[in-house]
Amino acid sequence: MRELTTERLRLRSFIPGDLEAVHAYAGDPEVCRYTDWGPNTLAQSRAFIDEVCAASAVERPGSTTWAVTVAGEVVGACSVSVTSAEHRRGVMGYVLARAHWGRGLATEAAAAVLRFAREDLALERVEATCRPGNLASQRVLRKIGMRQEGLLRSHVMIRGRREDSLLFAAVGDDVPGPGAS
Ligand SMILES: CC(C)(COP(=O)(O)OP(=O)(O)OC[C@H]1O[C@@H](n2cnc3c(N)ncnc32)[C@H](O)[C@@H]1OP(=O)(O)O)[C@@H](O)C(=O)NCCC(=O)NCCS
Repeated sequence: MRELTTERLRLRSFIPGDLEAVHAYAGDPEVCRYTDWGPNTLAQSRAFIDEVCAASAVERPGSTTWAVTVAGEVVGACSVSVTSAEHRRGVMGYVLARAHWGRGLATEAAAAVLRFAREDLALERVEATCRPGNLASQRVLRKIGMRQEGLLRSHVMIRGRREDSLLFAAVGDDVPGPGAS
């Protein structure tokens, strides 16, 4: 898989040795407050690592997941999946360890993945969803140029509770909007 680099980040394949770093965030209930997975058991974090390591060995995977690293330390993950090759459509997501929130790192990683989705995967429409209460994630999506398109009612099951999602997308040449940086 192709590595991505930004000013502060290196996005690389996961390796089995990343288990501890992954579990540090994926097992954190605060990190998983709005996610439809977790908080992980150690076995679930190991299964995640196994899955993404296997996928990174595939030549043209439908889904790519990077380890987000800062100065060699794994601080989170970012992914993009092709949901329809025919319609050039995909979906992306991200997560960061709590100790690294608020430094613009998610925005930096997500912008690089969106660029990869457009330039390398030739996707014309890249979507992301997040819970209405997840204001930090909404801000990240707006900063990378996505627009809010709607509310998906009763979209996901989160720890036994049905929750709505907001749908965001970047289409064609959408660029970061007013107030974005
Ligand atoms: C969402 C998440 C990735 C954001 O990571 P981050 O590195 O802190 O994001 P950034 O620093 O790039 O940007 C966050 C923006 O949200 C803003 N923000 C943070 N908390 C906020 C809140 N409660 N209300 C409004 N805005 C908020 C920040 O001020 C910043 O905007 P600014 O640059 O205009 O000041 C991180 O909180 C996370 O991993 N959360 C858990 C997993 C998750 O929810 N993933 C997304 C699933 S859709």
